[in-house]
Amino acid sequence: MEERKLRELLNSLSLDEKIGQLIQLSGEFFSAKDVSLGPQKKLGITKEMVDLCGSVMNVVGAKETHRIQDANLKNKKHPIPLIFMSDIIYGLKTVYPIPLGLGATWDPDLIQKAYRNTAEEAYASGNQVTFAPMIDLARDARWGRVLESTGEDPYLNSRFAESMVKGFQEDLPKYGIASCIKHFAAYGAVESGREYNATDMSENRLRQYYLPSYKAAVDAGAKMVMSSFNTLNGVPVTGNKWILKDILRKEWNFDGIIISDYAAISELVAHGFAQDNKQASKLAMNATVDIDMKSPCYANELKPLVTEGELDEKKIDDAVWRVLKLKNELGLFEDPYRGSSEELEKKSVLTPEKRQLARKVSTEAMVLLKNKNNVLPLNPEDNKKIALIGPYENEHELLGLWAVHGDRKETVTIEDGFKTYLNSDKLLTAKGTDILRDKSMFKGIGLSEEQIEKIVSSDSVEKENNDKAIEVAKEADIIVFAGGEHTIESGEAGSRGNLTLPDNQLHLLNKLFELNKPIILVNISGRPMILTDIEPKLEAIIQAWFPGTEGGNAISDIIFGKANPSGRLSMSFPYAVGQLPVYYSQFSTGRSVRTSTHSSRFMSKYLDIPNDPLYPFGYGLSYSKVCYDNLKLSSKEMNGESDKIVATIDLQNKSNVDTTEIVQLYLQDKFASVVQPIKELKSFKRVSLKANEQKNVSFDITSDMLRFYGTDNKLTVEPGEFNVFVGPNSDTDQYDSFELK
Ligand code: NOJ
Repeated sequence: MEERKLRELLNSLSLDEKIGQLIQLSGEFFSAKDVSLGPQKKLGITKEMVDLCGSVMNVVGAKETHRIQDANLKNKKHPIPLIFMSDIIYGLKTVYPIPLGLGATWDPDLIQKAYRNTAEEAYASGNQVTFAPMIDLARDARWGRVLESTGEDPYLNSRFAESMVKGFQEDLPKYGIASCIKHFAAYGAVESGREYNATDMSENRLRQYYLPSYKAAVDAGAKMVMSSFNTLNGVPVTGNKWILKDILRKEWNFDGIIISDYAAISELVAHGFAQDNKQASKLAMNATVDIDMKSPCYANELKPLVTEGELDEKKIDDAVWRVLKLKNELGLFEDPYRGSSEELEKKSVLTPEKRQLARKVSTEAMVLLKNKNNVLPLNPEDNKKIALIGPYENEHELLGLWAVHGDRKETVTIEDGFKTYLNSDKLLTAKGTDILRDKSMFKGIGLSEEQIEKIVSSDSVEKENNDKAIEVAKEADIIVFAGGEHTIESGEAGSRGNLTLPDNQLHLLNKLFELNKPIILVNISGRPMILTDIEPKLEAIIQAWFPGTEGGNAISDIIFGKANPSGRLSMSFPYAVGQLPVYYSQFSTGRSVRTSTHSSRFMSKYLDIPNDPLYPFGYGLSYSKVCYDNLKLSSKEMNGESDKIVATIDLQNKSNVDTTEIVQLYLQDKFASVVQPIKELKSFKRVSLKANEQKNVSFDITSDMLRFYGTDNKLTVEPGEFNVFVGPNSDTDQYDSFELK
């Protein structure tokens, strides 16, 4: 539609019709026979407002979206198409590993392709917007939503933010889907890692570490932003003019739609920020929040606010304009189904090509954390018996909590994968135990006794399972233990205070350790877990995350050596919960354990645990041995901001196995007016090395890599000395230095 016509449409709308465009409701409002008795009553809005509602959340599938759209367009004075938005976070039907696993691929280009495929599935299924990517910087593994993040580093997160947005939005406006980035801002820093909690930090820290990934996504063209649940320095984001209006809209020129997180406008009252829904609506409107996701606020309060002269109608017009503009840009006025159909859906969902890409992504996401005596890869031709034991042995639930539209039945289990490599005489299997037997955990998420009985085996069945696993293990030469977290233990509202394997799994593992056989742990989890106690007794550890639809194949490809692991952690694995938040880019402090001259007690450290995590950011092994040597800088001086220095390093694959190495460049600004971290990732390269191959790898170091936020919270660069580190992970100590003149 021409812009002039769109304006005319806006001008012709009644106040109620305009407000309708600013309301988002969930599927139940459109499926209930009589909404007045159910959802509408529960939310407390009128039937008229339900009819005028402009967008729908989390309804997926061409059939259902068409039905709802048809009903919406009927008998309307101004038939404005609905826009369908969903949580399509790491795949729709073809599900990839959780984003923390995607972060571990260090392969933004591959993830862009994956998200392009997801957009294709979503487009065919009648969705136009995804509430993704989630790009919150996450440094506290207690927070269940680290599952949705690509990790702890601003630079790596920014690269993924760009590639994910581009993947979703490729071919917009015709195809693809619009990306709604979240949770703006700094939701990943909620205190104590507790969900929905407060965030408090200096503006300097916010700008330097927490905002860059959102900014990268906005610069990549993201069409929408979701305002987060948390307070930011005392002011809830959803009513926070400074972060939404001054920074997002004015500084960053974002003119897309801002949508609140679920019921976040009405929660301004619960926060103690607004006295009632009316004031909450006014505060959100003044902060330029355009769409109210699933709260009664805008539906009931905007009209009185305008008629009583408390809110300028112009603000409503501006918000509606942004909504209409996106609908128009996506072509919904010309085709309210936007090309979606059941036929197209069948053709594009879960195709062999998409599965193949998912398998590759999942394989790249696996991180080999330990491989003592090169026990891995296993050779299927060896005359050895392998026992696949543990609750994830033949479990379809490998998708993780946020794959809400994925079909578990389509998942390749680990046993399915193993069977493609091993004959039945070599493969022994036993579940051994449930994933989780702690009933209080299930009660905590609202399950009834009856539901829990179905999930948790009786004590006698548990004992039988345990006994069988031990018998099976006794017959085997090697044990692969497939364990980890239960799906409910991570994701939204999945904060935890203990990050070890569940007690029942530890109990079984300890019995298996007594058999003195090599045990390989395949750890399925939505977060970095604490593996400190069991690590010494394990021969190998593969961190497999929730690996997605092709998970079982990918795990098997790694275990049997079809693929050489290349995943590297994008979030540190803590040694103990007491370290959290733990991340590599820490500050030196006045009394660093590494450099202080103070006597042993009076240093920045814990008395009972080390400062360092068990496995640091950037860490991961492969089946090859790659040596880094001969780091050189093209000059010891950078002369002014337009100059550049080239860092080079020699890599040698001293093994007979081809590999992909993730070569990482870190910088340290040694002295600055605002102290800088001991190391910060500034670049990385994926380098493939054939068996025994040698390569020289180079990085350009430019002055924009040296910038930081000064005491005035503006970007600056200061002359002085910089250290340059190049290596296989953040713990590297190969470095050289130069001076910026
Ligand atoms: C709440 C979550 O915080 C957000 O990530 C999600 O997109 C919305 N619910 C919608 O489901």
